[in-house]
Amino acid sequence: MTTGKTHRIALVPGDGIGAPVIEAAVEVAQKALGGTLETETFPWSCDHYLQTGAMMPEDGIETLRGFDAILLGAVGWPEKVPDAVSLHGLLLPIRKAFVQYANMRPHRLLPGVEGPLRKEDFDILCIRENTEGEYSGAGGRVHQGTTGEVAVETAVFTRTGVERILRFGFEQARKRRGKLASVTKSNAQKFSMVFWDEVTRELSAEYPDVEVSQYHVDAISARMVMAPETLDVVVASNLFGDILTDLGAAIQGGLGFAASANINPDGTAPSMFEPVHGSAPDIAHLGIANPIAAIWSAAMMLDHLGEGEAAARIMAALEATTSRGIGTVPGKDRTDDITAAILSALD
Ligand code: IPM
Ligand code: MN
Repeated sequence: MTTGKTHRIALVPGDGIGAPVIEAAVEVAQKALGGTLETETFPWSCDHYLQTGAMMPEDGIETLRGFDAILLGAVGWPEKVPDAVSLHGLLLPIRKAFVQYANMRPHRLLPGVEGPLRKEDFDILCIRENTEGEYSGAGGRVHQGTTGEVAVETAVFTRTGVERILRFGFEQARKRRGKLASVTKSNAQKFSMVFWDEVTRELSAEYPDVEVSQYHVDAISARMVMAPETLDVVVASNLFGDILTDLGAAIQGGLGFAASANINPDGTAPSMFEPVHGSAPDIAHLGIANPIAAIWSAAMMLDHLGEGEAAARIMAALEATTSRGIGTVPGKDRTDDITAAILSALD
């Protein structure tokens, strides 16, 4: 069953393998919904930057605001545009402007996928703070090019920001196995991270049903490799979450499987869904990008849009496909063949 509602989706395929994986994700999502997505594609990318001098037009954010959700492929092509320019011109401003403060990244092995660990029984949901912390953008450089050069980049943690991401983590833990791991580095960073730990303890009183553990980021990195089955929901700051979710992608078999949802939980602006992988310039024209991460991200989008049943059918089709060994080994199957297998598993 689908709701039958029309959903207006902004597609930003971006660079490199972004376009083919988004095409695959839209095809699968449309089939699962019976065609109720109304999509509009925006060509914002590094090529767009070379043509116009900007990654997106000045009113880009306002244009996107009118949509129910955004599906994004990948941003970046360092040979054409420096990453710090392309990412700060498109992906990062969208996350901030639309207050997509909760970046959800699930890490588990799809059936048939062999991870690098000797374990298969983990199911982790990383929740990364997505608007402040180490990505606040506060800082500057002086005396550039001289021996006296100084670069400062300040991590900013606000009570509003820390409370809301931890609350989101507690709520997710409640919906899952009731365990929350809060990640800091409060043994070394005595202001921001001690503050985060304090807020974790304060809020835990409101969630007596959730079992809370506090880890330092170095220790939980080791735990994700050695004992990932002991983790349920993991909540971390922007940069720690960024790093831990590449580790999470690795233990789930690679970036081709890592999905993500940039959620605005308050519904005041559209949320954005994107695979964790980048634009992969090295394989961009080979037709072998794995569309699974993008398709999984599209399933998260449908779930967010109230189409939980269609999302579940997509996940079942993904799992049926990987169980048959299709899309499980990087570079073995072609994007189109993996997509076709998933589409037919949807029947
Ligand atoms: C991610 C990416 C981005 C990030 C980069 C491309 C800026 O690594 O989504 O994990 O650091 O947030
Ligand atoms: Mn990353």
